[in-house]
Amino acid sequence: MTAESIYQKTYFITTFGCQMNAHDSEKLAGILNGMGYRPAEDEHAADLVVYNTCCIRENAENRVLGNLGYLKHIKKKHPNKLVAVGGCMPQQDGAAKRLAATGAVDILFGTFNLHRFGELLERRVVTGETVSEVWEKPNGLDDGYMNAFRENPYRSGVNIMYGCDNFCSYCVVPKVRGRERSRRPEDIIAEIETLVSGGVKDITLLGQNVNSYGQKPEPTGVDFPSLLNLVARLEPAPKRLRFMTSHPKDLSPALIRTIAENDNVCKHIHLPVQSGSSRVLELMNRKYTREGYMSLITALREAIPGIAITTDIIIGFPGETEEDFADTLRLVREARFNGAFTFLYSKRSGTKAAEMPGQVPKDIANERFQRLLDAVNPIVLERGKEQENRTLHVLAEKEEDGVFTGRADNNALVHFKCGGQESPLGKIVPVKITQAKTFFLLGEGEAAQ
Ligand code: SAH
Ligand code: SF4
Ligand code: F3S
Repeated sequence: MTAESIYQKTYFITTFGCQMNAHDSEKLAGILNGMGYRPAEDEHAADLVVYNTCCIRENAENRVLGNLGYLKHIKKKHPNKLVAVGGCMPQQDGAAKRLAATGAVDILFGTFNLHRFGELLERRVVTGETVSEVWEKPNGLDDGYMNAFRENPYRSGVNIMYGCDNFCSYCVVPKVRGRERSRRPEDIIAEIETLVSGGVKDITLLGQNVNSYGQKPEPTGVDFPSLLNLVARLEPAPKRLRFMTSHPKDLSPALIRTIAENDNVCKHIHLPVQSGSSRVLELMNRKYTREGYMSLITALREAIPGIAITTDIIIGFPGETEEDFADTLRLVREARFNGAFTFLYSKRSGTKAAEMPGQVPKDIANERFQRLLDAVNPIVLERGKEQENRTLHVLAEKEEDGVFTGRADNNALVHFKCGGQESPLGKIVPVKITQAKTFFLLGEGEAAQ
């Protein structure tokens, strides 16, 4: 095969992880488009299948390994199909070996050398040999601005920092994404200006803990609230600004003010609590207490009426007692979250928690998990019902059979019909909410202007 022959080929990328991972997939798509590849309809049709992997929990890894087993089988019939595997999983000790053992992987790369993907692919195509390159650390090169290709032309993530220094005792992210490092504010602003002038309406500033932006490796001179303010007031300004994720320990009054004072900063915050027990929070190394968390919720709701608050909760952390779990249930009822991602604790090798005593038996954890869902879901539905008969402003992002879908300012997922001649796609449409379901809202849109 010659290098030229790659130029009509197609690719299909599957993202297994978080928003950061999803944004990395957009960068990979940008690299591939730049090489003349085109997106395929699905994995079956693609000449090149890319898995952007996640290892936050064991089931994320199992999904990847299961899919690779299937691809190995497909490759028997289609020997020219290439499979590339990147992202967080290859950064884990031993994982590269397990991935290679599937016999399905042609190109293996990690989080720190994503920008090298084009070269690795070419090397595979030219030599016909398996290529594996996984760096142990970033080598200072991960800030190279990469032209991302977004399937959704209206929304984009923008990295403001990489890595994480928090070392929550259960978490692999510091290991697989490296030390915390903030991008320079001028680079972030330049990227956002390009996106806004290209028609992107909704921008999410991305980092594992955006609230500690601007400190490492050297101070950038701009902290997170100041950065958010700067970006919100650009001219032309992004129509909508979001950010993910906020660590409660670093959420400052200045950030609360900044959200309140800028109309284009969305009235939503994702604030993972992880547990309602201060004892467990300490074991998790989260550096806040249940009371501290609840006072943040109060401060946010007082300063920003109507703000939607969503969270992450882990069940079955080592040493979690029935009493600790009851504290989590109580917190969920007090905080009345608009949404919660709930996870069963997953033991990750190399983390502190993996060595902790009192690993919770699976059946107990499963039972608590179910009780947690039974507590969370009715509250989320009640929160949704509070939106009924209200008008939310929704960015219409997709259309299927005459039904449009998008996110409201408060991050609610809304499906709506819309009258009028002109398509509302890409526009922010007032939508009257007619019915709340647990995970989405239904509504009627006003005709697009
Ligand atoms: N940086 C973000 C979270 C990134 S991971 C933050 O600190 O909030 C997303 C979520 O996965 C976490 O909030 C946590 O709830 C969950 N998670 C991380 N490691 C986990 C593990 N070992 N088992 C179960 N859930 C985990
Ligand atoms: Fe993981 Fe904690 Fe960092 Fe989030 S803040 S990525 S949970 S170590
Ligand atoms: Fe998963 Fe990596 Fe994100 S481990 S959650 S894809 S940073």
